[in-house]
Amino acid sequence: MTKQILITGGAGFVGSTLSIGLKLRYPNYRIIALDNLRRRGSELNLSRLREVGVEFVHGDIRNPEDLLEFTHLDYILDASADPSVLSGINSPVMPLINANLGGTVNCLELAQRTGAAFIFLSTSRIYPIRNLEAAAFEELETRFIWNNYQNIRGISSKGVTEDFPLEGSRSFYGTTKLASELLITEYNELKGLKTIINRCGVISGPWQMGKVDQGVLVLWLARHYFKGELAYIGYGGQGKQMRDVLHADDLLNLIDHQIHNLETYNNQTMNVGGGLETSFSLMELTTICEEVTGNKIRIKPILENRAADIRIYVSDCDKLNQINNGAWKPKKDIKALVADTFAWMQANEKNLKNILN
Ligand SMILES: NC(=O)c1ccc[n+]([C@@H]2O[C@H](COP(=O)([O-])OP(=O)(O)OC[C@H]3O[C@@H](n4cnc5c(N)ncnc54)[C@H](O)[C@@H]3O)[C@@H](O)[C@H]2O)c1
Repeated sequence: MTKQILITGGAGFVGSTLSIGLKLRYPNYRIIALDNLRRRGSELNLSRLREVGVEFVHGDIRNPEDLLEFTHLDYILDASADPSVLSGINSPVMPLINANLGGTVNCLELAQRTGAAFIFLSTSRIYPIRNLEAAAFEELETRFIWNNYQNIRGISSKGVTEDFPLEGSRSFYGTTKLASELLITEYNELKGLKTIINRCGVISGPWQMGKVDQGVLVLWLARHYFKGELAYIGYGGQGKQMRDVLHADDLLNLIDHQIHNLETYNNQTMNVGGGLETSFSLMELTTICEEVTGNKIRIKPILENRAADIRIYVSDCDKLNQINNGAWKPKKDIKALVADTFAWMQANEKNLKNILN
């Protein structure tokens, strides 16, 4: 049976991966990518979308008029946002709230009007910074890790679960996402919308236009590739801060499963990430980037921590595994992720040089 799927932010990193991936898997589905092309580099995806038959609509989710043309949709995948954790800290807050919260409400209204189920890409950044920073950790040779002797619920060496306490500050970005989650839950309960909330850790891979405040893995590889400069910021300036990461192709596999098993996931909020098995510290990433590119660059230490930064984040995906009985597991490890991203950089060097460098 055919389906009509609107992907907002469809020319962005995640949005284009989902749009193109779903169209290639299900050629008879109508896939529409809506984007305001605000993110630098998103314009490079337009020809890729066109080539596989994804329809592109130049529109802005902040403007309800831009959404009027849709009358029937089966799914809305909301992948449009300002995804930077630094947004609003040294800049006005309202643009962030309008895009990330006002935009979500407009998409929820659209879902209700068109009969669509709503799949939301939330973030691990909804977990409060102070609580994460208070977690007990150990310092190993190349990375920090959480240990199993925690005084806070919902955290262990395996990562953070959905039970982690939510009181406290989490950045303006994280707050716009948590506020969106709360509203989505109300639309599910009180308006009968089918909804899924994916709390994603770091996502990466080809077509991510990595920059200093968002997309660290691609930024790191690009600076090695184009021989730029980098800094280990904060936590002693050694690069031991650690994250789990998920290849965008693995996220595509999960969203594909969610679309085709809606009742299994309806009204669920779950952590989604690569987990401890697919994690890296900046120091370890440097070694991988040096191996892959053959280049060594200057990485200066900056001792002072950056605002809203965290030492460690790892997603514990036990809840997701229970919901779907283990039907999904990330397949691509960190080396495969870097290799895929490197191949993309080589193939698109001319276009990417100014954007990533
Ligand atoms: N990349 C990650 O590591 C990560 C992690 C957790 C959650 N997320 C979430 O996943 C989603 C996608 O992130 P991404 O990494 O692809 O970011 P991205 O910046 O590459 O893509 C977002 C796209 O949305 C578009 N956009 C922004 N505001 C818009 C608006 N008002 N109307 C229409 N289009 C708009 C941008 O032009 C861009 O193409 C976001 O909601 C983000 O918060 C991303």
